[in-house]
Amino acid sequence: MKLIIAENYDEMSRAGAKIMLEVVKGNPYAVLGLATGTTPLGLYAYMIADHEKYGTSYAHVRTVNLDEYKGLPKTHEQSYAYFMRKNLFDGLDIDPENTNIENGMAEDEAKECARYDELLERFPRDIQLLGLGSNGHIAFNEPNTPFGSGTHVVTLAESTVKDNARLFDDISEVPRKAFTMGIRQIMQAKKILILASGANKADAVRKMVKGEVTESVPASVLQLHPDCILIADQEAAANL
Ligand code: GLP
Repeated sequence: MKLIIAENYDEMSRAGAKIMLEVVKGNPYAVLGLATGTTPLGLYAYMIADHEKYGTSYAHVRTVNLDEYKGLPKTHEQSYAYFMRKNLFDGLDIDPENTNIENGMAEDEAKECARYDELLERFPRDIQLLGLGSNGHIAFNEPNTPFGSGTHVVTLAESTVKDNARLFDDISEVPRKAFTMGIRQIMQAKKILILASGANKADAVRKMVKGEVTESVPASVLQLHPDCILIADQEAAANL
């Protein structure tokens, strides 16, 4: 795993955007694996700024997102579909038809997971962007998810519900289940870019980079990827 330590959140975001933009500028038909959460917000703002200033086009780009809360329609303000429109897609010239995310309202879970598995096979990702859960999760693959997993429905760890509660009016509103891309599929991306910011990620960053490769720390699997870059700000890198 290649490690870049950035001075602060803004430097992390700028360095991350540079890597994403190299992929898009190098291939107008690129497939981008995208992530939600607070961490990639700065990176997305840099992508929008670049599009506005230099006209980098996303007209032929496709995106696939990692995960979606179960039970939230895509119009819900806390759904990841809404997050992506508001924080990235609306600022680019991307065709909404070319953006993909699990359907949180799908009643037949197995059918929805199979649909997403098939889609991920059809559109191999040139790059996969990731954030990091404070418990070492990637996407919504919580500790002890098998490394061989495909798209599946998870029950969120209590710590994840607490971490994400800050974005909801009340913790009782945080969905307890979600659809997520599996670890096997994250590892299939040609390149992986993982961002980590803030002191509450320092322990997970240490385990991911220096710890044993183990299913109890999902992000540790990234040590096995041939082209994975971690950009951590100083607070997140404090325990390395
Ligand atoms: C969420 C998402 C992850 C994200 C992580 C960290 O639960 N499912 O994809 O990377 O938690 O979120 P944040 O960037 O807000 O710290």
